[in-house]
Amino acid sequence: MFPRSLVVLSVFSLLIINPQAHADDWLVDADEDTRAERLSSYLGGFSAAMWEVGYRYEHMLQAIEDDNFELATYHWDKIGGAIRGGYMKRPGRQANSDAMFLDAIWPIYLETLKAGDGEKIRSQLPQARDACMACHVAEDVEFMNDQPMFTRTLPGEEDNETSE
Ligand code: HEC
Repeated sequence: MFPRSLVVLSVFSLLIINPQAHADDWLVDADEDTRAERLSSYLGGFSAAMWEVGYRYEHMLQAIEDDNFELATYHWDKIGGAIRGGYMKRPGRQANSDAMFLDAIWPIYLETLKAGDGEKIRSQLPQARDACMACHVAEDVEFMNDQPMFTRTLPGEEDNETSE
């Protein structure tokens, strides 16, 4: 017991009193160009934004299932910001993001979610999902659509897609 706490104590004090512990910081100690390159590569491109979008979309579905419409609204709202952040990094993705999503279903579904009518929220969900999927087709990543977050449906959704 005693020796172990001694080890913990000495490691701890090393961290506090040794300024060298941060000497090799990947950003602070890099020159300006290297820092920019490192930040750019670490922050990623559009797929990093989509990773967040996918996470939030799945949690939005769960929130709708749980009738937690405030949480669903929260995630849908953040999805808009994440997509804007994505095309700030990759401007080539802006045209379809705006035309097919942000200037289309996104504000409409945000209002629906805010209003909190579960029946309407469920019946409008296919339109929200269709917009994600249409953009994947338009951007040549159609394979994205063949995964559970897009293929599973929630009880109460308007079944307007069965006659495809
Ligand atoms: C610009 C149109 C566009 C819209 C709108 C869009 N996506 Fe995407 N999505 C893409 C592109 C392009 C990729 C591939 C990114 C890459 O490889 O750089 C992608 C990739 C993804 C991925 C894989 C991310 C990863 O790397 O793990 C998920 C998940 C995803 N999208 C979910 C969604 C959801 C959910 C929505 C709707 C809420 C949505 N997307 C709306 C274009 C779009």
